[in-house]
Amino acid sequence: MIRILSMRYLRQKSFIHARRILSVAVFLVAVILGAEGFCDTQPPREKALSVNYPPDKTVMELGLLSISLTVPQGSTDLIIVNVNGNEKARIIPDNKIECFTIPISAGYNEIDVTAIKSSKLVGKNIIDVYRRSDLERAYKDPPAGFQKDYFHMKEHSQCTGCHILTPGKSDRKPVNIAAFPIEDMRIEEKILAKTSTCYSCHKNIASYPFVHGPVAVWSCLSCHDPVTEPKYSVKKPDTKSCYSCHVGQKEERLTKKYRHGPVNTGMCTICHNPHASEDPFFLVKSTWDLCINCHIDKGSGKHIVKIFPGKNFHPTRGTLDPLRKNRELTCASCHDPHASKTPQLFRANLGTGFMLCKKCHAD
Ligand code: HEC
Ligand code: HEC
Ligand code: HEC
Ligand code: HEC
Ligand code: HEC
Ligand code: HEC
Ligand code: HEC
Ligand code: HEC
Repeated sequence: MIRILSMRYLRQKSFIHARRILSVAVFLVAVILGAEGFCDTQPPREKALSVNYPPDKTVMELGLLSISLTVPQGSTDLIIVNVNGNEKARIIPDNKIECFTIPISAGYNEIDVTAIKSSKLVGKNIIDVYRRSDLERAYKDPPAGFQKDYFHMKEHSQCTGCHILTPGKSDRKPVNIAAFPIEDMRIEEKILAKTSTCYSCHKNIASYPFVHGPVAVWSCLSCHDPVTEPKYSVKKPDTKSCYSCHVGQKEERLTKKYRHGPVNTGMCTICHNPHASEDPFFLVKSTWDLCINCHIDKGSGKHIVKIFPGKNFHPTRGTLDPLRKNRELTCASCHDPHASKTPQLFRANLGTGFMLCKKCHAD
């Protein structure tokens, strides 16, 4: 497909060239005639660009937004994409369809797609996208007028000329968690990606330092079922899909009396990105920031030791964890984010009361 595409690019390039010569000629004729009326009878100039995806006022869940534009040949030299006033992409169009992905943040995102031709503004499209979040309460409910757009619930004949929208066998590779070949996989990752029909549009979903096993091998259908309604939606609660592979964790946690609030309600993805992230364990934020989101008062460390020498309280970050090699001290150094034998959710190896302190302060 790539080769066919590049052939098409070449043809388009020479076509653009021919069109440029033609338009210069038309311009000269217009100047020579010097007739204003001549210009008035011209058909209106073709729009510099139009947005095929996303529709205006869409609600998104995760941090990546796909954009697809139609850019009539020769209409635009440069496309600048700003999100809430910050530049996120700068594209020199060389194809009639330009596809790319931009990051979006929680809440309101004003996407401004500006087309420039010979240093002049020739087109402007503004699309509003709202990224909702279960974690950050302020962004839980999208404003009135915004709604989810289920891309895969519609026919997209403008896309199928270049992309495959019917999943194939390789989109549901078996993923054996017990024998997951991390090392081999890293080498093969690129090859595996190319076998996926999802890759051509969703390739950025895995471009983070920490990638979840089934995503790294592009086995998207191990969680996204094409026959659900809406198509590809994942069963809730998350525990259903997560524990289908993480059987060990399920059994271990079931033996513990106390389960953490969000785990108890089956909301694994309030803390874990199911695909990939900047943080280990594919957390949606680093551990400390994640916990503080819901336990705002605990960051000070006042809760750990009531009477503390000096004016600061017990650290909760910014220093090494004595028990976990090369890892920062954080809330999870003392607490298990999932389940525990104690109501304060202490980690299994820590014990309680004074024993807990002694684990790190041996002397
Ligand atoms: C003229 C051919 C063509 C058409 C039509 C087309 N695309 Fe693309 N698209 C491409 C090419 C080529 C790539 C790059 C693929 C790659 O690198 O594997 C791409 C990549 C993408 C990407 C990933 C961009 C990135 O780099 O992050 C998305 C998302 C995408 N297309 C969405 C769409 C959607 C939605 C439609 C229909 C509205 C569409 N495309 C129609 C050719 C096309
Ligand atoms: C033509 C490009 C294209 C291909 C191929 C594609 N997707 Fe998508 N998909 C999109 C776009 C665009 C969206 C809208 C969300 C976004 O901005 O990424 C989307 C959204 C989704 C969603 C959210 C629900 C929805 O319908 O909006 C899921 C889940 C998803 N895709 C899974 C898949 C899987 C699994 C595959 C492979 C079997 C796949 N996609 C192939 C373009 C594509
Ligand atoms: C471990 C399970 C799992 C795997 C594997 C997985 N996903 Fe997802 N995906 C989810 C969950 C859970 C959601 C969130 C859906 C929700 O909560 O509504 C999601 C959401 C999405 C969305 C919607 C994003 C948005 O902003 O709304 C897209 C697109 C998507 N997945 C694409 C993919 C692609 C492509 C793959 C393969 C590389 C993949 N997923 C593999 C679990 C998974
Ligand atoms: C299709 C099987 C499958 C499903 C479903 C699945 N996982 Fe995983 N998960 C894996 C594999 C494989 C690994 C990599 C194991 C390894 O690194 O040894 C992994 C690793 C992880 C890790 C990192 C573990 C570590 O010790 O580094 C986390 C965190 C995780 N998954 C969370 C989830 C969550 C949350 C869900 C549900 C949204 C989920 N998984 C659903 C297969 C799955
Ligand atoms: C409150 C946030 C939160 C929730 C909810 C949550 N996790 Fe975690 N999870 C974490 C953190 C933080 C870590 C890293 C812990 C550490 O540093 O030791 C982690 C680590 C993991 C690991 C790897 C370490 C291990 O225990 O094996 C897996 C697997 C995992 N989580 C799966 C899940 C599943 C499945 C769910 C849903 C039942 C879930 N998590 C719900 C925050 C959470
Ligand atoms: C999405 C919100 C949310 C996040 C994120 C979250 N928690 Fe919680 N946490 C709760 C809820 C809800 C409860 C149960 C209600 C309660 O007792 O306050 C709870 C209870 C607890 C408890 C037991 C409280 C008690 O009363 O004994 C501890 C300890 C705890 N969380 C630690 C953490 C740590 C550590 C993290 C980060 C890994 C974290 N929480 C992240 C919502 C959250
Ligand atoms: C050095 C160990 C340690 C660290 C680090 C730590 N805690 Fe605690 N945490 C404790 C102890 C000890 C208790 C029990 C205090 C008590 O019973 O008075 C506790 C209790 C709690 C409770 C439940 C009791 C209450 O006061 O409501 C929550 C919630 C909690 N911690 C959250 C956090 C969060 C969030 C972080 C990270 C910002 C964190 N903890 C970091 C040791 C720690
Ligand atoms: C997970 C390990 C861990 C646990 C459990 C823990 N601490 Fe700490 N504590 C630390 C670290 C790390 C520091 C900072 C040391 C540094 O920066 O040099 C610290 C610092 C202190 C200090 C300041 C003096 C010093 O040694 O630097 C006191 C006092 C203290 N902790 C008391 C306690 C008490 C009381 C408990 C039990 C409620 C406790 N700690 C539990 C890791 C822990």
